[in-house]
Amino acid sequence: MIIAIDGPSGAGKGTVAHYLAQKFNFKILDTGLIYRALAKEALQQGLTTDQQHQIIELAQRITIESTNEDGLRSEEVAAMASKIAVIPEVRAVLNDLQRAFAHADAGDFAGIILDGRDIGTVICPDADCKIYLTADQEIRALRRMQQEGNICAIKVQEMMAERDKRDSSRNTAPLNAAKDAYIIDTSHLSIDEVCQKAAYYVQKSCLPDTMSA
Ligand code: DC
Repeated sequence: MIIAIDGPSGAGKGTVAHYLAQKFNFKILDTGLIYRALAKEALQQGLTTDQQHQIIELAQRITIESTNEDGLRSEEVAAMASKIAVIPEVRAVLNDLQRAFAHADAGDFAGIILDGRDIGTVICPDADCKIYLTADQEIRALRRMQQEGNICAIKVQEMMAERDKRDSSRNTAPLNAAKDAYIIDTSHLSIDEVCQKAAYYVQKSCLPDTMSA
């Protein structure tokens, strides 16, 4: 069973994914961390975004384990991740990694949740349940600040706006809700309300027999 969660940064994907994973015993993959792991490696090697050939080569060395590295959450890494994510060859390599994870045997887990930008549209178009989370940009920036503390509100909002624009307007796999995704606008909902809605959609799509009439 595959659950796809997409949306821009700060919409609540991670929180919802972890809630659903615990509630339904799903394995989880935050696909943004794959792009961030590659970005961190590229930055460490002093590469710039125009050195595409080297970045594509580096992408081939990224593994699911790379997502456990430290230092992936900084704004510098996030900005670089968004920039390298526009390179189609990079996406092709990282897509294979994500698809292999999605379709691997889930073992003792009931299924797999992937969260990202193009899971429902490109990585797993046949996912059993697709959820697209969104929220007003000011609210998303505020949440990000509360999470990370001690960073300038205007700077966060500017960087987020720049990243949103790039992620949504790139030619290959731009951020988009799949036609068959459940859309949740989290702007004015509590975390608990968002999680309950998402759990309802998962249950309705994947476990209808467990729902009372
Ligand atoms: O979700 P995140 O902020 O950690 O993602 C970092 C960047 O990675 C994001 O700005 C765009 C890119 N990304 C992507 O293009 N496709 C995905 N499935 C996940 C992330």
